[in-house]
Amino acid sequence: MEPFVFFGGKGGVGKTTVSCAYGVKSARAGLETLVVSTDPAHSVTDVFDQPFSDDPESVKGIDGLDAMEIDPETETQRHLDGIRNDLSEQVSAAMVNEINQQLEMAHQTPGAYESALFDRFVDVMRNADPYDRVVFDTSPTGSTLRLLGLPEFLEGWIDRLMHKREKSIDLFEKAAIGNNEPRRVMDGDPVLARLQDRKEFFEFAGGALQADAAFFLVLNPDQLSVNETRRAIDEMRERDLSVRGLVANKLTPEPDPGEDGRGARYLRDRVATETERLKEVRETLDPPLVAEITTRTAEVKGDLLDDVAAELAVETDAEAPTFV
Ligand SMILES: Nc1ncnc2c1ncn2[C@@H]1O[C@H](COP(=O)(O)OP(=O)(O)OP(=O)(O)O)[C@@H](O)[C@H]1O
Ligand SMILES: [Mg+2]
Repeated sequence: MEPFVFFGGKGGVGKTTVSCAYGVKSARAGLETLVVSTDPAHSVTDVFDQPFSDDPESVKGIDGLDAMEIDPETETQRHLDGIRNDLSEQVSAAMVNEINQQLEMAHQTPGAYESALFDRFVDVMRNADPYDRVVFDTSPTGSTLRLLGLPEFLEGWIDRLMHKREKSIDLFEKAAIGNNEPRRVMDGDPVLARLQDRKEFFEFAGGALQADAAFFLVLNPDQLSVNETRRAIDEMRERDLSVRGLVANKLTPEPDPGEDGRGARYLRDRVATETERLKEVRETLDPPLVAEITTRTAEVKGDLLDDVAAELAVETDAEAPTFV
């Protein structure tokens, strides 16, 4: 199994729960494991009953498990500040004000949030040496996983920007007459250097996501969730990312055969409906169903995590990353 494992799925299906359970399972199997969450609700803090921050910290009571919570809002601000600093070095003071205003607006667009998270995920992957396995609990907006299919596209875009910049410098060089220094030169051009950096960043991201990452989708046994999962699989396939497996969570438990009260009949009917949905999943979706996790009577935390982890038929052994 690849060293980087992503769990996606729509809001509330159990991504954080399953990511943490899988993290626990990996750590118990002797792998140095990191769980990375982007949940603004700090759910990982709730699951382990321990506050986490932007830096990995060890999870108390579980050897070999670290966790960190990336706050998407802070990350977006940091991302835009980075862009602001980069640009301020390269443009006139008059432009800086204009850029600040543009960036304020950019902050409000959904793309900024996703793009910041993408950068941070890739950053975590690049600095994953101390770990055998990194588990990503992706944000519920659903677009995070889709975004992971973008590096190739972005690389092409950067190539075009670099080409434009080279052409413009070339014109300046040609325009410099006699012994006059051209206003721009290719060597040490800060814009080209920055673009080259970004290009390498996306090259790494594309390679690592293709070769070193496995994607899983979490779903619940209802029609909406199944439909959404089907769409997510298709969209990821269009981006050359394949979904390794599906995790069905929050399955209704079956009552004992002898029971026939109102509660038992309700459960039996629910189970019948859910069995139909799971049959549809098995027959019409390509990725295999790798786990069927029943609903517990309380939130999944503490010892319950090990129980849920045992129901996850997702292998834990990790290969070394090829792209780091
Ligand atoms: N198998 C289960 N049995 C009982 N409760 C569960 C189970 N799986 C998840 N839950 C509970 O359901 C709620 C939502 O789960 P979780 O936070 O893992 O979902 P999520 O997909 O990460 O949500 P979000 O999209 O908001 O990030 C939590 O309170 C969690 O404890
Ligand atoms: Mg969550």
